Amino acid sequence: MENALNLDTVVLSEDKKSIIILDQTLLPNETKYLSLDKAEDIWEAIYKLRVRGAPAIGVTGGYAYYILADQADTENMDEFVSQCTKNMEYINSSRPTAVNLSWALNRMHSVLLSEKEGKGVAWMKERLMQEADAIREEDIQISRNIGAYGFELLEKLGKGVGIMTHCNAGTLATAKYGTALAPVYIALEQGWDPKKDLHVYCDETRPLLQGARLSAYEMQAAGVDTYVQCDNMASYTMKSGKIGIIFVGCDRVAANGDFANKIGTSGVAIIAKHYGIPFYVCAPSSTIDMTMESGEEIHIEQRKPEEVTEMWYEKRMAPEGVGVVNPAFDVTDHSLVTGIITEKGIATAPFKESFEKMGIKPVEKYVDKKSNTPL
Ligand code: MRU
Repeated sequence: MENALNLDTVVLSEDKKSIIILDQTLLPNETKYLSLDKAEDIWEAIYKLRVRGAPAIGVTGGYAYYILADQADTENMDEFVSQCTKNMEYINSSRPTAVNLSWALNRMHSVLLSEKEGKGVAWMKERLMQEADAIREEDIQISRNIGAYGFELLEKLGKGVGIMTHCNAGTLATAKYGTALAPVYIALEQGWDPKKDLHVYCDETRPLLQGARLSAYEMQAAGVDTYVQCDNMASYTMKSGKIGIIFVGCDRVAANGDFANKIGTSGVAIIAKHYGIPFYVCAPSSTIDMTMESGEEIHIEQRKPEEVTEMWYEKRMAPEGVGVVNPAFDVTDHSLVTGIITEKGIATAPFKESFEKMGIKPVEKYVDKKSNTPL
């Protein structure tokens, strides 16, 4: 089994004309890369979770912006800006909850708007490529820093610690290392024994099984003592005393510390509070959306019913016509969070003050004029 750290989740092709993504819908059974250069294909890859995980979607957004800008057949800067705007709005409509996609698109667009004066379209295309590469490079460093802060917590708990995680916030969800699983990769780099010093419990994460298919694969491939459990077994495992700490990723954090992550995360946090297990959220600071006061403002993506009733089953397993609930994310209340691990340090309650001390500010957002919604 290939160590997932050796797999690139999202990169620019050698000829700089397409995005190469690892198709995560096929893992762990097949390792296949897709080369994407059409807006519709990139949109589909994000929507279908071929590329997924908030930071990896952000990196994809940056490259999508560049690739599509590069295809613009005009030397007129106003026309170029108008095409880039249209493409950005389209790509952004693929998934709404993870802030990283709109954050990366906004960042690319700001570069275009703030640096275009006196520059030609060809120069700007080159500049946008550099910015997209920078987003990817920074993501690797950010994940390493999150891992280092998380590892300090593991060191305090001592070798032999049991870690629970939900969904996949490992290397596959980022450019490299991951967020929630980065502390494990750092521990291995520091010489911890993967079989004796770390025990990782992965919630399978219904309905798309990111925990069973991706986190369990990553951890197993890294040689770590790994367990997969159905989501409804989390309480049993926590009660058994095997879990010393919980690390989860996140898709958007509001200023008060409420955060959205894969559906089921809030239940894990509630159970952890009951058993007194420290519950940490791992997030690049770009995931903290200071324009949202609380989690109430976070838009939750609703997905197709078939993901619940048919996917992964040989035959449909629920009666035809039954109503289905399929939110892709839920919001966990900040009162359940022990700390939010960012690349700048670990934020604790009151979170807004803690974020402000770290220099995290509201980011000005591009407003889609048609729908009047900020990206
Ligand atoms: O629907 P997904 O698979 O994109 O959801 C992913 C998650 O919820 C992750 O925990 C989150 O994006 C953080 S990834 C570092």
